[in-house]
Amino acid sequence: TRRLIIDCDPGQDDAINLFLALPETDEYEILGITVVAGNTSLEKTQRNARLLCELAGRTDVPIYAGCDAPLKYPLATAEEVHGSEGLEGIDIIEPEMALESQNAVDFIVETLTAAEDGSITIVPTGPLTNVAKALQKRPEISVKIKEIVLMGGALKEGGNITPSAEFNIYVDPHAADIVFESGAPLVVFGLDVTHQVLSSDAELERIKNIGNLVADAAYSLLTHYGRFDAEKYGTNGAPLHDPCTMAYILKPEIFTFKPCNIRVETESELTRGHTAVDFWYATELPRNALWAYEVDTPGFFDLLIKQLSTYS
Ligand code: BDR
Ligand code: CA
Repeated sequence: TRRLIIDCDPGQDDAINLFLALPETDEYEILGITVVAGNTSLEKTQRNARLLCELAGRTDVPIYAGCDAPLKYPLATAEEVHGSEGLEGIDIIEPEMALESQNAVDFIVETLTAAEDGSITIVPTGPLTNVAKALQKRPEISVKIKEIVLMGGALKEGGNITPSAEFNIYVDPHAADIVFESGAPLVVFGLDVTHQVLSSDAELERIKNIGNLVADAAYSLLTHYGRFDAEKYGTNGAPLHDPCTMAYILKPEIFTFKPCNIRVETESELTRGHTAVDFWYATELPRNALWAYEVDTPGFFDLLIKQLSTYS
């Protein structure tokens, strides 16, 4: 069984990704959920992670709070997309589930240090600050990583926070640079693929019809999330960015990849956070990532519906 650490900043689409991940399974074990500042402050993202685990009946999964700001730049957030609390659409209550006292970065370092080579999968769906800090502290832990399966970056789609950058990479490009240069195997879901997974009215209707608490929460979150992004993109529904990562863990065959070199711009004012994806092999740089560029969208939604249907 795979051993996972999910690193997130919930966030509406992070929430759907957690709902995909949390049904009990023999296929993987979630060692912990580590939380970072991104869509909103760390104070709120860690509360949201606990709230979502409680909702999903998984208070057994330990939650660790990590970095409250990027490595160098001041924190940029996205409340206009996700709402002032980060989870627009569901009632925000203070969860009873406790936060672990250990810092997320120390948890990642400790878990990887104790693990066998190539045995831990990290699934980041927010800025890469926690993961980068762990790799900065103890670079030798990169060999313990089986894969880093992350949402971030863009090639043909262009950016969503600036013309040339996707939000997660833009917020902490220095962290992304450390992760992309770490030598750990990377599987990268950028906007080119996540924009193919839209929460259309037809799919929302299917989610609405499931009829359990988690599916109802997913429906409500997506209804609010969709409103902002659908207007922005002129599409029927909003892109389910982060859920591509767990969909890959559960059903990798729905995605198409190309091994590519990917580098991150950290300094330029104009293109900060740009991911230079060498899709056409213009260089001979090492292919440090599998770049996802196509998805079987109906296959994705069948999986989401299946996972949401397992809750009671
Ligand atoms: C990414 O930015 C965040 O707002 C989403 O949660 C997702 O991780 C998409 O660019
Ligand atoms: Ca996110």
